[in-house]
Amino acid sequence: MIMKLFLSRMQSATAALLLASSLLLSQQRHPATNRPIADVMGFGGAPWLERPEREQEEAPQRALELIGIEPGTVIADVGAGTGYFTRRLAKRTGPTGKVYAVDIQPRMIEALKKSVARENLTNVEAIVSKEDDPMLPRGEIDLILMVDVYHEFAYPQLMLRKLREALKPEGRLVLLEFKKEDPAVPIRFEHKMSIEEARVEVEAEGFKLVKVISSLPRQHILIFKPGARKVN
Ligand SMILES: C[S@@+](CC[C@H](N)C(=O)[O-])C[C@H]1O[C@@H](n2cnc3c(N)ncnc32)[C@H](O)[C@@H]1O
Repeated sequence: MIMKLFLSRMQSATAALLLASSLLLSQQRHPATNRPIADVMGFGGAPWLERPEREQEEAPQRALELIGIEPGTVIADVGAGTGYFTRRLAKRTGPTGKVYAVDIQPRMIEALKKSVARENLTNVEAIVSKEDDPMLPRGEIDLILMVDVYHEFAYPQLMLRKLREALKPEGRLVLLEFKKEDPAVPIRFEHKMSIEEARVEVEAEGFKLVKVISSLPRQHILIFKPGARKVN
């Protein structure tokens, strides 16, 4: 009798555990597209972000030319990592502009601050942010740039809502994402995004996809502007 009771308690506990883990697993997919959300790249990936071959593989300067950055632009580099793009952005916007460099990993921000100081750039403000909040000032940003980042957001919907609040009404939200449509791009599947996945997910949070540039070797440039929120 005691054994039977013990077994039935074990079964309910196992069922509860299975349910909890399946709920957890379901949180790791985007509800609008069923896209699996990628793990966050840890600080161990820092050397990869700064690899010299990146110039050739991703053409970062060409990417920034295509996006178009005027001196004096207020920029948020969200998921800035070690500052590979932050430094290039800071030079382009110049002393009349500003770059907020945002990342959830304190070690990335530490490395970013050092790399920015080495190049004597004084127009960068580094922010250790939260998984669901970029901690940016409201209504101040002209351009939000996320390079190989959006697919890692654990809370993409909450992040996009906060990012929309941070943008000026005429501001732009720009994603660079590895092309999922191209199997020759040598990046893990869950670290790539298709144009359609990005459009569906980002437009659902009050943006409009206004331009797609696919001329970079590995990434799409996806330019969004604040627009009407879709009613489901
Ligand atoms: C693949 S790295 C890209 C870094 C940088 N954008 C670059 O291209 O060199 C992705 C970065 O996004 C950051 N990240 C992930 N989720 C984030 C979130 N919710 N808010 C801010 N940063 C985030 C990670 O900590 C990591 O540093």
